[in-house]
Amino acid sequence: LKQVLFKSPNEPPMVFHWFPIIGSTITYGMDPPKFFHENRKKHGDCFTFILLGKKTTVYVGPEGNNFILNGKIRDVNAEEIYTVLTTPVFGKDVVYDCPNAKLMEQKKFMKIALTTEAFRSYVPIISDEVTSYLKRTPDFKGQSGVVNICPKMAQITIFTASHALQGKEIRDQFDEKLADLYHDLDMGFSPINFMLHWAPLPWNNRRDHAQRTVAKIYMDTMKRRRARGDDGQKDMMQHLMNSTYKNGTKVPDHEIAHMMIALLMAGQHSSSSTSSWIMCRLASRPDVMEALYQEQIDNLGKDLPPLKYEDLAKLPLNQAIVKETLRLHAPIHSIMRAVKSPMPVPGTKYVIPTDHVLLAAPGVSATDSQYFPEPDKWEPARWQKDHPLAPSMVRNEDEINEEEEEKIDYGYGLVSKGSASPYLPFGAGRHRCIGEHFANVQLQTITAEIVRAFKFRNVDGSDKVIGTDYASLFSRPLEPANIYWERRN
Ligand code: HEM
Repeated sequence: LKQVLFKSPNEPPMVFHWFPIIGSTITYGMDPPKFFHENRKKHGDCFTFILLGKKTTVYVGPEGNNFILNGKIRDVNAEEIYTVLTTPVFGKDVVYDCPNAKLMEQKKFMKIALTTEAFRSYVPIISDEVTSYLKRTPDFKGQSGVVNICPKMAQITIFTASHALQGKEIRDQFDEKLADLYHDLDMGFSPINFMLHWAPLPWNNRRDHAQRTVAKIYMDTMKRRRARGDDGQKDMMQHLMNSTYKNGTKVPDHEIAHMMIALLMAGQHSSSSTSSWIMCRLASRPDVMEALYQEQIDNLGKDLPPLKYEDLAKLPLNQAIVKETLRLHAPIHSIMRAVKSPMPVPGTKYVIPTDHVLLAAPGVSATDSQYFPEPDKWEPARWQKDHPLAPSMVRNEDEINEEEEEKIDYGYGLVSKGSASPYLPFGAGRHRCIGEHFANVQLQTITAEIVRAFKFRNVDGSDKVIGTDYASLFSRPLEPANIYWERRN
C-alpha cells in the first residue's frame, strides 16, 4: 500500500485515481490507446499509473520506445512479467521459462528456418489453403452473403501458419483434434490469468491437459520422423531437430515441442487480428479493394496466375495495406518490462525505481500527427513515396544505412540499435519479433487471394469502421464484424 500511495520527487507524474489498488486499471483496460493519449496530453510522454496495484510507468514516443525496448538486460526484464501466463501454455524450458541468453539462442534457431528459400515454398501453400477454405466453407457458398469475418480469419490463419511452419502432417490434424486443443490452450492467454494462472479452475485444467496432449503430438511426430530417417523435410520442426546449443547439447524434444506451440500461438492472435482488420478496412473502402485488384491485373497479368513469393514485391499497394493496418491496429498495444535497477530517464529529472513496471506503447507514436499527417485516416497509399500523407521519421529496414547505424548482435541476427522510431508494430531490441517477415508474407498472400475472389463492402454501404475489443491480450475488431461479400465473376 505504501508503495502505491507515496512517490518520491524523482518519479514521473502519477495519473489521478480514486481507489488505491484498482487505480486506473479499469479506464486503462477499457481503451488503452485513449488512456495513453489523454494522459500524455496532461502529463507529457512519461507518466505512472496504478495497474492492479502495481506502479506502471508508461513512456511513449520514439524516445520512450527506445528507452524501454532497447533497455539493457541488467535494467529491464520481460520474463518476470510474462512467464506466469506463457509457461503453462507453451511448456517448460522455452521462451520466458529459461534465462534470456537461452531464449536468444532459441530465437536464432527459429529465425534461421524463416529464410527466403522457405518463404518461396510458403506462398503457394498459403494460397492453396485460402482458396480451398473459401471453396469448402458454407458461409461463402453462392454469389453473395454476409459473414462475421473474425472467426473465418482465425481459421485461415491457423490453417496457413500450421501448414507452412509445421508441415502437412501437423496441418492435417487441425481438421480433427488439434483445433480444439489449441482453443483450450488459448484460454490460458486471457488477461485474468495474470492473477489466476495457478488456480485449479476448469479452464486452467483444460489448458494443462491441452498443453500435455499437443506437446505429445509433436514429440510423437519427431519420433516417427527419426525412425523414418531424414526424408529431406525442410520445415521448422526438422530445422529445430538439427539444431545444437552453444554448449554442445542438442535441443531436447520437449523443448522443440514447446517452441512449436510458442511459435504458432505467438503468430496466431497477432496475424488473425491483423487480417480481420484488413478485411474490415477493405469493406469500408471498396475503392481500395478495387485498386488492389487492378494492381494485380496490371503487374501480374490479366489471367492472374498462381501467386509466387516474387510476386508480392510487385504489389506495393498490397504491401502497404498490411503496413497501414498495423499502424492503426497493432494487436499488441502494451509491452511490459520489470525494472531491475533504477533507470534515469535521459533529459529529465525522473528515475524509474525497481518497484515499477515499464510499459511501452509504440501505437501512440504510430498515431501521432507529428509523424503521420491525418493520423486517424487509414490510407495505405501514404506508404508510397511522395504521397501528401507520407510519414516522417520512419525508415524501412532496407533503407537503413548500415555504416551510419550502430548494430548489436543479440545472438539471433543483427538488430538495429536505433529503435527510436515512431513505427514499431513488431517491437524492437532483444525481444523483437522474429515472425515479422513470415507475418508479412502470410498477410499479403491472404489479402491478395481474398481480393481475387471477392468484392467487400459494409453491410449498410457506409465507410464506418468497427470498434476495437480490448478484452483479451491482443486487441481485435469487436464481434460480430459483419461484412457483405460478393463473388467476382
Ligand atoms: C515478439 C508483434 C507475428 C513470433 C513480438 C513483439 C511484438 C510482436 C510487438 C515484441 C514483444 C515484446 O517485446 O515483449 C507481432 C505482430 C505480428 C506478429 C504485430 C503479426 C502481425 C508473429 C509470428 C510469429 C511471431 C507470425 C511466429 C512465426 C514472435 C516471437 C517473439 C515475438 C518468437 C519474441 C518474443 C520475445 O523475444 O520475448 N511480436 N508478431 N510473431 N513474436 Fe511476433
